[in-house]
Amino acid sequence: MSKTTAAAFVAVATSFFILHFSPPPKSYYHSLFISDSLADNASVSHHLYTLTRRPHVAGSQANAEAASYVLSTLSACNLKAHIVSYEVLLTYPDSRSLTLTPFPSEPPITFDLKQEIYKGDPYADVAHEVLPTFHAYAKSGSATGPVVYVNYGRAEDYETLKEMGVNVTGTVVLARYGKIYRGDIVLNAFEAGAIGALVFTDRKDYGGGASDAKWFPDDKWMPPTGVQVGAVYNECGDPTTPGWASTEGCERVSIEEVERNGDVPSIPSLPISGSDGETILRSIGEQVAKDDWQGSKDAPTYKVGPGPGVVNLEYNGKQVIATIQNVIGVIEGVEEPDRFVILGNHRDAWTFGAVDPNSGTAALLEVAQRLWKLQKEGWKPRRTIILCNWDAEEYGLIGSTEWVEENRELLASRAVAYLNVDSAVSGPGFHASATPQLDDLLKQAAQQVQDPDNSSQTIYEQWAGSTDSSLIGRLGGVGSDHAAFLQHVGVPAADMRFGKAGFPVYHSMYDDYTWMQKFGDPMFKRNIAAASIWGLVALRLADEEFLPFNYHSYAFEIQKRAEDLENEISDKDITFSPLFKSIEELAKAASKIDNQKREIKEAKGWTSMWRNDRDKVRELNDRLMMAERAFTDRDGLLRMPWYKHLIYAPSRQNDYGSTSFPGIDDAIENAKNLNTAESWNLVQHEVWRVSRAVRHASLVLNGKLT
Ligand SMILES: *[C@@H]1O[C@H](CO)[C@@H](O)[C@H](O)[C@H]1NC(C)=O
Ligand SMILES: *[C@@H]1O[C@H](CO)[C@@H](O)[C@H](O)[C@H]1NC(C)=O
Ligand SMILES: *[C@@H]1O[C@H](CO)[C@@H](O)[C@H](O)[C@H]1NC(C)=O
Repeated sequence: MSKTTAAAFVAVATSFFILHFSPPPKSYYHSLFISDSLADNASVSHHLYTLTRRPHVAGSQANAEAASYVLSTLSACNLKAHIVSYEVLLTYPDSRSLTLTPFPSEPPITFDLKQEIYKGDPYADVAHEVLPTFHAYAKSGSATGPVVYVNYGRAEDYETLKEMGVNVTGTVVLARYGKIYRGDIVLNAFEAGAIGALVFTDRKDYGGGASDAKWFPDDKWMPPTGVQVGAVYNECGDPTTPGWASTEGCERVSIEEVERNGDVPSIPSLPISGSDGETILRSIGEQVAKDDWQGSKDAPTYKVGPGPGVVNLEYNGKQVIATIQNVIGVIEGVEEPDRFVILGNHRDAWTFGAVDPNSGTAALLEVAQRLWKLQKEGWKPRRTIILCNWDAEEYGLIGSTEWVEENRELLASRAVAYLNVDSAVSGPGFHASATPQLDDLLKQAAQQVQDPDNSSQTIYEQWAGSTDSSLIGRLGGVGSDHAAFLQHVGVPAADMRFGKAGFPVYHSMYDDYTWMQKFGDPMFKRNIAAASIWGLVALRLADEEFLPFNYHSYAFEIQKRAEDLENEISDKDITFSPLFKSIEELAKAASKIDNQKREIKEAKGWTSMWRNDRDKVRELNDRLMMAERAFTDRDGLLRMPWYKHLIYAPSRQNDYGSTSFPGIDDAIENAKNLNTAESWNLVQHEVWRVSRAVRHASLVLNGKLT
C-alpha cells in the first residue's frame, strides 16, 4: 500500500472515532491486516534466514536456540509467550553402510551415503551438522539379500509383482519415494516378506525428468546425491507415551513394547539418493517393469528382479529421551477470553528447513508482528488467539500431539478452530484443506487477498482456476500438526500452503535459504500472502460475533462421500440408509441454526449491548463449535483407538491418504479380503456408528435435549 492509501486508512479510522466515539469496526482492522502497509517482506526474509542458518533437528541445541528466537520475537510483539517442554523418545543415526554386489563375479560397490556440497555453497561451514541420511525410528540391524524393485511400494505394486510371479520373501526391496507415506513403504515391504527396504528419490519425480535437466543450485531440482530423510513411524506423538503427555518423570511404555506393537518398523531401512538408486537398478535383472514403473527417458531400463544384484544394508540408530520445546504465544480476547482460535506451525527441520517448515515459522512471526501493529491501532480480539510453534513434528507430530494430549479437556471445551501452516511456501499456487464448515470462510478470505504471482487477480481466482477437482482438500491424513486437534479431539481445522507438497528438495540438505530465495519465493511475496490469508481467517474466527461456520457444506460433503462408498459396494447387502437419514438431519439442523442466527440479528437492533442478547449469541456459537466434537467417538477407530474422529482420520494403508469415513473404509477393505458374513456385518456396524455420530452433531446444532 502506498503512503497515501495508508494515510487514507488513518483518516477513515480517525473519522470513526470522531463521528461515533467508538473504535472502527473489526472489518476495518481485517482490511488493514492484509494491506501492503502492514506487510514486511524484508522481515519475513530476515526471520527465515536466521531460523535456517544452521540445521536444527528436534532435540538439538540449534533447535532450542531457534525456539528462543521465536519466543523473543513473539514477546516483542506483545504476546504472552512461554515454552512448554516435553521429554520424548527420538532416534538419531549411529552407523550406516550399504554395499552392492552387482553380479557374483563383480567386486562390491560401497556407497558413501553423502549429500554433496556444491561449489560456493554458503552453508558448507555447517554442512557437518546435518545428520547422516537415515529413517527416524528405523529398526537397527542388517539385511543381505537380492534386490527387488517395487515401484512406489504400494499395496497395488505388490499385487502387480505377485501377478508377475516375483517372490519378495527374503529380498531387500528398492522403492521410490512419492505416492505414499514412507512409513507405509517400509510396512508394506515387511508385510510382503522383505527383510530390508531402500527408498530412493527418482529423478523422474524430483529431478526434472528431462535428460538435460539441471539441478540445485542451477535449477530447482534435487541433485543426484540428494536424499529425502524422514520418519518411518506410523503413529502420532511420543511412542513411549501413547495417549498421554510426555512430561518429566511420567509413566512410559518400554521401547521393546513399542516395537512389539508394530508402530515402528520390524525391518531395517535406509533412504538413498537418485544416483545410488540408479546404480542399484542397473544390477537388477529378470523381467522388465511396466511402463509406468520406469524412470526418466535416459535412465536405465528398470527391471524387477530379484537380483542378481545383492545388497547388504546396515543401520544402527541411537534412541534418546530428548527435551523438545513448543513455543506458545497468547493474545487474550477481551469479550470471550475462554474461546480459542489456534494457529500452529512446526519449527524442527530435518536439515535447514527453509521450506519445510520455517517458511511457515516466518509467516507465523509475520502474523504476530502484524497483530501487534493492529493492537497499536486500537484493535483487540473478541476471542483469544494462540500462536503455537511446535517441535518434533518431523518425528511423528510429537510436539503438537503431546500438548493436545496434556490439554485435551480445555481444548475440547474451548477451542473454536485450529489453523495449521506447515511449509507456507514451496512455489506458486494456493492449496488448502479443511473441515467442511470452514469452506466458505476460506474461499471468502482467498477472495480478499491478492495473488502474489499476479496482481490483477485474487488468490481465489488463481486457486479456482487451477483445478477441476474439488477446490478444498480434506484432512483425513496425518501429514501435519492438525492431526491431534482434529482427529483426536474434534476441533475444526484447516491447513494452507503455497506450492505443491512434494517439492523437489523435500527433506534433503538442499532445502535451504538459497533454494527459497532463488526458486521457492523470490522476494518473499508468497510468504507475505500466506501470512495474509492465514491471519485473515484467524481474525474472522476471533472477531466475528457469530462464528463463520457453515454446516451445510459439511452435510453436502459427507453426502457425496457416502454415495461414493455406497456405489463401491452396491453389490453387497449393506444399507447406507441410516447414514443418509442422519445426513439429512444434519442439513436440517444447519438450516435451523442459520435461521436462529438471523432471528437474533434481527431482534437485536438497538439492544445489542443487552446481556440477554449476548448470552444467546454465545449459546449459539457454542453449538457451532461443539458440533464437530460430536463426530468423535470415545472408543475411536477399531484398530487405531487414538483416532476418535469417525469422518476424518487416516486409513490403515496410507497415513497420507485423505479419506472420509476411515472406519467404514477399513471395514470394507477387510471384508473384501475375508469375504465372510461376519466381516460384512462389521461394515454395517461401522455405517451405523458413523450415522450415530452424524446424528449427535445435529443434536448439538439443535441444542435441545431429546
Ligand atoms: C518365496 O520364497 C520363500 C523363501 O525363498 C519361500 O519359502 C516361499 O515358499 C516362496 N513363495 C512362493 C509363493 O513361491
Ligand atoms: C493474471 O490475471 C488476469 C486476471 O485473472 C488474467 O487475465 C491474466 O492472464 C493473468 N496473468 C498471468 C500471467 O497469468
Ligand atoms: C521485498 O519486495 C520488494 C519489491 O516490492 C523487493 O524490491 C525487495 O527485494 C524484497 N525484499 C526481499 C528481502 O526479497
